[in-house]
Amino acid sequence: MGQFKGRSLAGLHDYSPDEITTILDLAHKLKVDRKAGHTQKPLAGKVLAMVFQKPSTRTRVSFEAGIYQLGGVGLYLGAGDMQLGRGETIADTARVLSRYCDGIMARVFSHQDILDLAQYACVPVINGLSDLLHPCQALADLQTIREKKGEFKGLELAYVGDGNNVAHSLMFGCAKMGMDCVVVHPEGFAPDAEMLALAQEDAKQSGAAISATTDLSAAEGADIVYTDVWASMGQEDEHEKRLKLFKPYQVNDELVSRAKPDLLVMHCLPAHRGEEITDSVVDGPHSVVFDQAENRLHAQKALMALLMS
Ligand code: CP
Ligand code: NVA
Repeated sequence: MGQFKGRSLAGLHDYSPDEITTILDLAHKLKVDRKAGHTQKPLAGKVLAMVFQKPSTRTRVSFEAGIYQLGGVGLYLGAGDMQLGRGETIADTARVLSRYCDGIMARVFSHQDILDLAQYACVPVINGLSDLLHPCQALADLQTIREKKGEFKGLELAYVGDGNNVAHSLMFGCAKMGMDCVVVHPEGFAPDAEMLALAQEDAKQSGAAISATTDLSAAEGADIVYTDVWASMGQEDEHEKRLKLFKPYQVNDELVSRAKPDLLVMHCLPAHRGEEITDSVVDGPHSVVFDQAENRLHAQKALMALLMS
């Protein structure tokens, strides 16, 4: 575990395919152990500070339950209740939290806040979602795909919707693990060009093809169709405008009927049912969305055990 101890996770770009495989293998083991009723406490007595600038259901509960199951405790810190909200800097917050806690998980608007926390903290910092990336979600998604499909190589994932934080982290996850990934987006909502180029660079090693297009037919041969909300947290003002622009990109029965019979449908949740995905698809036979949600727990427990013990 030498190469993990003390490291932060801002994004999957910073981790090698072998390191991601180690995390996924431990996540699988922790999942099997938990289902068999075996408990391990590698983080006994450790404290995780959990800083939230945005709301959360899955991230908060999976990290808090996860650290508890590993023997430690999580502290929920709403950014508005901290001195952060009154102008204390991220750097000073990182230094102070490091004196009390053994790790910091943060959900932020600006990705720079994650980078600053990691720079000034002397404990591991885990990105629990920024406007740019959502690496913990991608780890749980990779775990889910491996469980359902057995391996990554040869698969194609089509992400249909906004080229956002979730799309970016999926591009990196696919690039690292050798899965093709196409982001199918409405005009004007492509993934960030720098993230796309970086993921394509990562993909050179694995041979995966990472691309973006507005052409919906690109989703047709995919093994996995993934979607996320059309307006992310912080973009509430654009919600109405986006509804119309994104409508053709809805993941619905018609889109699924043109896909492979063993298609997996994925969504990080929360779903805006009737917008980016219909009830019939999210509740249908191809959907693995609640397995993804469950795997947040196991993947993050593996991550915390590796980084913080
Ligand atoms: N998928 C995800 O991160 O969900 P929450 O916003 O509920 O944490
Ligand atoms: N893209 C979404 C993901 C929520 C888990 C958002 O940032 O709001």
